[in-house]
Amino acid sequence: MNKKSFDLEELASLCKRRGFIFQSSELYGGINGFWDYGPLGVELKKNIKDAWWRDTVQRRDDVVGLDASIIMHPRIWEASGHLEGFSDPMVDCKTCKGRFRADQLESSTCPQKPSKNVLSCGGELTEARQFNLMFKTFVGPVQDDSSVAYLRPETAQGIFAQFDNVLSVSRQKVPFGIAQIGKAFRNEINPRNYTFRSREFEQMELEFFVPPGDDEEWHRYWVAERLKWYTTIGLAPEHLDQYVYPQEELAHYASACVDIMYQFPFGLQELEGIAARGNFDLSRHSEYSGKKLEYFDQATNTRYIPHVVEPSAGVDRIALAVLCEAYAVEWIPKEGTAGEIQPAQPGESVPAGYEERTVLRFTPRVAPIKAAVFPLLKNRPELVEAAQKLYRQLQSSWPVFYDQTGAIGRRYRRQDEAGTPFGLTVDFQTLEDQTVTWRDRDDMRQERVPVAEVADRLATALA
Ligand code: GAP
Repeated sequence: MNKKSFDLEELASLCKRRGFIFQSSELYGGINGFWDYGPLGVELKKNIKDAWWRDTVQRRDDVVGLDASIIMHPRIWEASGHLEGFSDPMVDCKTCKGRFRADQLESSTCPQKPSKNVLSCGGELTEARQFNLMFKTFVGPVQDDSSVAYLRPETAQGIFAQFDNVLSVSRQKVPFGIAQIGKAFRNEINPRNYTFRSREFEQMELEFFVPPGDDEEWHRYWVAERLKWYTTIGLAPEHLDQYVYPQEELAHYASACVDIMYQFPFGLQELEGIAARGNFDLSRHSEYSGKKLEYFDQATNTRYIPHVVEPSAGVDRIALAVLCEAYAVEWIPKEGTAGEIQPAQPGESVPAGYEERTVLRFTPRVAPIKAAVFPLLKNRPELVEAAQKLYRQLQSSWPVFYDQTGAIGRRYRRQDEAGTPFGLTVDFQTLEDQTVTWRDRDDMRQERVPVAEVADRLATALA
């Protein structure tokens, strides 16, 4: 189960250097719990979201999509229970003035004594009190109680609130699902572990409506489906796990909940929760809106409030898991030297005949750049012209990268760090026999491939 541990700081530094993730508002000293995704990060996240949407919505007959607004009627949050109960217990430290989650004191570092946690640093803590995590704002020019609104803390409620409209336009029959990808906001007391717990993040949520009584079967189905899905975006099965909630940890309306966990460098942590929520949400919205939210089953001539199974995943956490899974520091044989690729041994020097490389071994499906095209030399117009022609041809189908600057080995290394699975080098042999060097990022093997076959081969590798 254990993935070779590494310091998250190393990964964060690579992510900054290569343009995956930047601290939000860095120019002004940053703002805790908010992150910006750079040119490679935005592609990575888009690929994860596209993979989810393709597999959860477009490839299925029984799921349709929705894009609801972030700010909704405040009554939605009364009905959902968020206004009353979406809170974490918080304590203040009278000594350092820090604020901490009361249930995470042991793993919270003291800001004044970073080698100690908040329980052992000697600071005086207040009693715990509940802190609501929803961000408040005002709609319209008057800022009073009647104009209070909230940034949504989850995308799910937009789906429940539009259940009736979607049902009536989509011609779906229960069992069916409504899926949504979008931003969610939580004023987390202690954002931490890089992007893992942020104050602004994206969710991919599916509300799958089922007949009462079928909850257990569909819950089992979605847990299995979702576990499988993570392997399609490159997470190793041995780094994935499940946490099955015991009865006493379930919400009063839920009949089952399983978290899909990933072995991060900072421990086994949740990527996604899959809950069987009964008919709690639709019943509450029906009660608070005064409108019936029912389904008429023609086959049995019965009317009922559907139950729901909810697989709810966080895009940013998945992106972080994908980065952790892909990240490797390796010793590779120098050009012209025989030898095997080895994992770098921290603290030891690189063996003779080897050099160190940092690589992101993304599965091609999520890799931000699918291939890089290089002319061997930039000062030979015939090589540049042939390389650019190939680059333009591939660019019409995939995100590809063109690089003519520096020694070819250094250009490969740059793409290894960006996680680009394939390198294509146009050299003098290309001009003679119309083949290019195809280099595989992971095993660094090189072979000659006819230019005319490159696009087909890439399509197969990316399928
Ligand atoms: N509608 C159910 C719901 O929102 P949740 O377990 O609170 O359930 C679902 O959130 C997923 O959203 C989590 O598994 C996680 O991936 C992501 N998530 C929740 N809070 C987050 C945060 N503060 N930062 C990043 N991702 C978060």
